[in-house]
Amino acid sequence: MLTVDSIAAVRETIGAWRAAGQRIAFVPTMGNLHAGHISLIELARKHGDRFVASIFVNPMQFGPNEDFNHYPRTPERDAQMLAAAGCDLMFMPHVEEIYPNGERIATRVHVPEISSILCGEFRPGHFEGVATIVAKLFNIVQPDVAIFGEKDFQQLTIVRRMASDLCLPVRIVGAPTMREPDGLAMSSRIYAELKRARAAILAGARDYVRIEAECSEALAPRGLRVEYFAVRRVSDLQAATRTDLALVVLCAARLGRARLIDNVTVTLAAA
Ligand code: PAF
Repeated sequence: MLTVDSIAAVRETIGAWRAAGQRIAFVPTMGNLHAGHISLIELARKHGDRFVASIFVNPMQFGPNEDFNHYPRTPERDAQMLAAAGCDLMFMPHVEEIYPNGERIATRVHVPEISSILCGEFRPGHFEGVATIVAKLFNIVQPDVAIFGEKDFQQLTIVRRMASDLCLPVRIVGAPTMREPDGLAMSSRIYAELKRARAAILAGARDYVRIEAECSEALAPRGLRVEYFAVRRVSDLQAATRTDLALVVLCAARLGRARLIDNVTVTLAAA
């Protein structure tokens, strides 16, 4: 595995692969890799001849109360995990390489409406930072396919919209959430409640506001501070109506300093 930190080196390496007719699959990450990332990487390998990963803790997507400086950075372990997963190129730039004039005055990519609801309401500016760095990384790597986890369903939806709106020639692939039977107890409780909501909808319940309220209430006594529990339509994450058939139920909750997010999709048959 080749490790580079400059945009020029990425372009040179990938340019040669592309000239040889090879397809590029890309997984952007902020490092501190875990089993969930490895499942994205395994999926990426199925979609390209060459597999590229980036590791960049993006200051633009951190809010003033979110600790950019203390975000865990484990570059050596990440490199080992990527090499073991068959990565061909690891791009690990410094902040100055990505934002040479400082991130505060850098040009930004804003995806309206969908960026300011759900997590966007609780993390103002976060998705602008995500859309900006992802657009920049797409321009640097120019991948044929890019993989994003379905765990952050809103991020995936925003990236799809951004790539489509900006006519970027990249196919966005969502990777299913990897669930471990012995996962964090609190995450499991959120997931259990999401599944309960899905079962109710599949059984015919259509009062989504009531489902949202009941599920939020059920999570609260477990020490979780629920930010939202929402039944939305998949296309634009706006409130689901009775006629929508492709739905997603999403939840974000805080447990102490940790912020947990999860979702399940629900597909209804046409009447
Ligand atoms: O999901 C993440 O790790 C980040 O938001 C991403 C997509 C790598 C952009 O910094």
